[in-house]
Amino acid sequence: MELNRKFPEKRVVITGAGSGLGRALALEFAKRKWNIAIAEINDTRAKETAEMVEKEGGKALTIHCDVTTPADLDNVLKKVLEEWQGVDILINNAGVASAGWFEKIPLEKWDWIIGLNTNSIIHGCRSFIPYFKERKAGYIVNVASNAGIASLPEMASYNATKAAAISLTETLRIELAASNIGVSVVCPTFFKTNLMDQFSSPDERQRKLADTFFGNAKTTSEKVARHTIQSIEKNRFYIITQKDGRNIWRMKRFAPELYFKIFGIVYKTGFFDRHLVRLLKVLNIVG
Ligand SMILES: NC(=O)c1ccc[n+]([C@@H]2O[C@H](COP(=O)([O-])OP(=O)(O)OC[C@H]3O[C@@H](n4cnc5c(N)ncnc54)[C@H](O)[C@@H]3O)[C@@H](O)[C@H]2O)c1
Repeated sequence: MELNRKFPEKRVVITGAGSGLGRALALEFAKRKWNIAIAEINDTRAKETAEMVEKEGGKALTIHCDVTTPADLDNVLKKVLEEWQGVDILINNAGVASAGWFEKIPLEKWDWIIGLNTNSIIHGCRSFIPYFKERKAGYIVNVASNAGIASLPEMASYNATKAAAISLTETLRIELAASNIGVSVVCPTFFKTNLMDQFSSPDERQRKLADTFFGNAKTTSEKVARHTIQSIEKNRFYIITQKDGRNIWRMKRFAPELYFKIFGIVYKTGFFDRHLVRLLKVLNIVG
């Protein structure tokens, strides 16, 4: 069903909407004349998004929010209820990226990324689910990543946080259906954003690889945002926004042993490093 018919009151909360996918989602909702709460830690970026939202025809509400702090998510709910008397969609989008050989990832970096990519989603869901359940209506979108499916090497901490996000969203899909609450999980592959700003890796080579992936990605955050909104309209659970991601998802699901064999050989032979850019071009992932 078309988004504005499905949610006639048109109220959405987006975490991390000061940049990248969060901002692109805010602007897509703005085109549809929604009320958009920008729950962001970076006040300057939040303000920029708010101005862009208003220009596109939406109504913006900026709320300072650190998604690693549970009370901040409670406060976001409180603020939107005061301002709009209700809310229809929560998008847990804020997140960071990292890389590193497993044994080289410092424990504090594990805590950091689990806090930002997994606990943040737990906090958002914990704050909003009681309200949605009471209304017997609402929709939760959790932004994970194809990394949570592909489990590529040297990305254990990022992969694990995103796999956890997928699993907890799968659980909610079943658990919340009885309360008429929709749930989706977004699993994009690479697209160009500011994600490298906070990227963490103990190794320069890994940073360069990540730069290649993110910096040259063909897909834009606008495309991922449009795909996400169309999927919410269709009540689609897995939102796998790019073709390469869908291929990886199918292969891992239907031929897991073959999947691990192929990626194991590719990694062992160093093919990944030597032919990375060429491979990405052939796969039409980078320009
Ligand atoms: N860019 C990609 O290629 C890609 C691929 C797959 C998944 N993702 C996921 O998409 C989501 C959005 O990432 P993006 O690429 O748009 O990155 P981005 O860095 O452009 O945007 C992330 C936003 O989150 C905000 N943020 C960071 N820490 C925060 C905190 N503690 N509290 C509140 N807000 C905080 C940042 O200020 C920023 O505005 C992330 O969850 C990321 O893992 C991105």
